Amino acid sequence: MKAVIINEHGSADVLQYTDNFPTPTPADNEVLLKVHAVSLNRVDTVVRKGYPGQTIPMPHILGGDMAGVVAQSAKNSDKFKVGERVVVYPVKLPEERDPHYGENTFLNDGWQFFGMQRHGAYAEYIAVPEENLVKISDNVSFEEAAALPIAGLTAYHAIFGTIDLKPDDVFFIWGGSGGLGTFAVQLAKQKGAKVIATVGKNEKKSVLESLGADLVLNHHEDDVVAETRKFAPKGVDLLIDYVGPATFDKSFSLVRKNGTIVACGMLTGMEVKLHYQQFYFRHLNLRGIFLGPMNEFVEFVEMKNQGRIKSHIHQVFDLKDAADAHRLLESGNYVGKIVLKIS
Ligand SMILES: NC(=O)c1ccc[n+]([C@@H]2O[C@H](COP(=O)([O-])OP(=O)(O)OC[C@H]3O[C@@H](n4cnc5c(N)ncnc54)[C@H](OP(=O)(O)O)[C@@H]3O)[C@@H](O)[C@H]2O)c1
Repeated sequence: MKAVIINEHGSADVLQYTDNFPTPTPADNEVLLKVHAVSLNRVDTVVRKGYPGQTIPMPHILGGDMAGVVAQSAKNSDKFKVGERVVVYPVKLPEERDPHYGENTFLNDGWQFFGMQRHGAYAEYIAVPEENLVKISDNVSFEEAAALPIAGLTAYHAIFGTIDLKPDDVFFIWGGSGGLGTFAVQLAKQKGAKVIATVGKNEKKSVLESLGADLVLNHHEDDVVAETRKFAPKGVDLLIDYVGPATFDKSFSLVRKNGTIVACGMLTGMEVKLHYQQFYFRHLNLRGIFLGPMNEFVEFVEMKNQGRIKSHIHQVFDLKDAADAHRLLESGNYVGKIVLKIS
């Protein structure tokens, strides 16, 4: 089958196209998916370079965000028939599940991310558990669907699965211009919240305004704290910070009393300082999240099927041009998602 593989860690140059990689054989509970589109995530570049603490057997196929068509159903199941159009929950869940975690099955040890602990979808075919599939309607393109899982589900979980964000509450996100940000802006608007987002380049502002952001600031040029205070004098109710050390102090001063910071990434490092006294004195909530549960993924995809959410796709590349797609991702000169299509 066609695939883009890595045989070693390194720059985008290590991504190699082949049309001769073995097609996977699905296990009994898995379908064989004909991949039509796979979207890029920052984690793809991290795995490509060598994920700290992870040994990745080579050759390896990246890609956790995929949409396509069922090419072979799971054994003894006709829940998803050949030809069904689907999008895939990006983690293979472990069989042993602690009831304590409820719907948050991804909190059980032993999960495997497609494209990290298992082969991903920069390929013509992939074997995926049937339980990971969600149907997409005919009005949703494979490219739009492939944009949804990792960035979209995390945004959905942050906004629909943490606090009860109410109309006229204020939502803030650093870096509204990325995959996660372009979904988060729209989802917070669906809740009726007022939305503040930041971008690194002024030319990215208009996209966020078109997605519904009420105030868009430049995180390099503007005094973000002062401008946000003018807009929301008491502070913001919910804030997403995936940037980490470079922004956390400001995040801390931006949330109102009893406000919530959702931490879901580490773009600038792994450790931040927390002002412990202010943390309890102001009744702040700090919530870490990693993806989100399958039931929320189903709700989110349904939102997409109903045409209530836009996948903002910056550019679609052919699979064989995956290296160029990675270079664009690493340049930061895009808004929303970058997608590979596999014909
Ligand atoms: N916890 C989870 O389950 C989960 C799931 C998905 C993603 N993530 C993480 O969340 C982060 C965002 O994901 P993504 O898919 O949206 O990535 P992305 O498309 O690469 O976007 C990165 C965003 O970060 C912004 N940014 C970079 N440096 C910044 C800084 N110093 N201050 C403020 N903003 C800054 C960029 O803004 P400009 O380019 O405009 O400067 C851009 O909007 C990544 O770190 C990713 O690993 C975590």
